[in-house]
Amino acid sequence: MSKQLIVLITGANRGIGLAMTRTFLERGDRVAATCRQPAKAAELHQMKETYKDDLMILRVDVDLTRSVNAAAEDMAERYPRLDVLVNNAGIAPGRSHDGLEVLELAQVRDAFETNAVGCLRTTRAFLPLLRKSKQPRVVNVSSGLGSLSKKPGDTHYYAYAGSKAALNMFTRIMAAEYKTQGISIVAVTPGWVRTDMGGADAELDPVVVAGELVNTIDSITMEQTSLWLDRHGKVTEYAW
Ligand SMILES: NC(=O)c1ccc[n+]([C@@H]2O[C@H](COP(=O)([O-])OP(=O)(O)OC[C@H]3O[C@@H](n4cnc5c(N)ncnc54)[C@H](OP(=O)(O)O)[C@@H]3O)[C@@H](O)[C@H]2O)c1
Repeated sequence: MSKQLIVLITGANRGIGLAMTRTFLERGDRVAATCRQPAKAAELHQMKETYKDDLMILRVDVDLTRSVNAAAEDMAERYPRLDVLVNNAGIAPGRSHDGLEVLELAQVRDAFETNAVGCLRTTRAFLPLLRKSKQPRVVNVSSGLGSLSKKPGDTHYYAYAGSKAALNMFTRIMAAEYKTQGISIVAVTPGWVRTDMGGADAELDPVVVAGELVNTIDSITMEQTSLWLDRHGKVTEYAW
């Protein structure tokens, strides 16, 4: 049997999602790289010239059920199964120090929609294809800021931190629900990475982090389901 994985990544047009797409393709895996605006995903189209049939560029807005379901149908027509779903798309609206009285509640709703509900919507749509894999894995890209036990005292991040905490709980609920079906569902935290979201001062290079995350994904079995892993595949210090 081919060891080539079939992987789907949300938010694959830039940042960590783009770097992971490149890493999987360089190893010979097949990637459905999804993004909101494929026409503007210049780097993905450039990769397509090299990787041709191994790369499928699909439109997915994780906020929109119709968009996610249409992508799942497209994918099912082209691929026999899905081995790895990476729920990577994320937003971080608002400022870290915005307090309750200045907070824009619409930003909190937006963050929950994309970072937490988006993961449920996407995972649900791709379950039929995941079930066709011998070793299906769902990888939810979380953040240390979503930790309840290690919440930094001096920041608020209501929208982002709240939505990532919700994502962590959804990870554990889904992991429990799908354990008997052999689908391993984990949260991973990439560290502070130099992307549009992480900013130029972040300590980690997205290409290096992508390599580490891909190695971690390789090592995920049912033993890890419901765990929160760091980018090296170790259980995080956050303890949820
Ligand atoms: N960078 C860090 O330091 C860091 C740390 C911890 C966790 N993370 C997490 O890592 C993941 C990737 O972050 P990043 O640093 O690569 O951020 P990024 O460079 O800002 O990229 C975010 C990606 O998510 C996509 N996205 C946003 N809303 C979407 C939606 N509704 N539907 C589909 N795609 C959507 C963006 O697409 P558009 O181009 O269309 O906006 C973009 O591709 C996120 O979940 C983030 O929370 C990052």
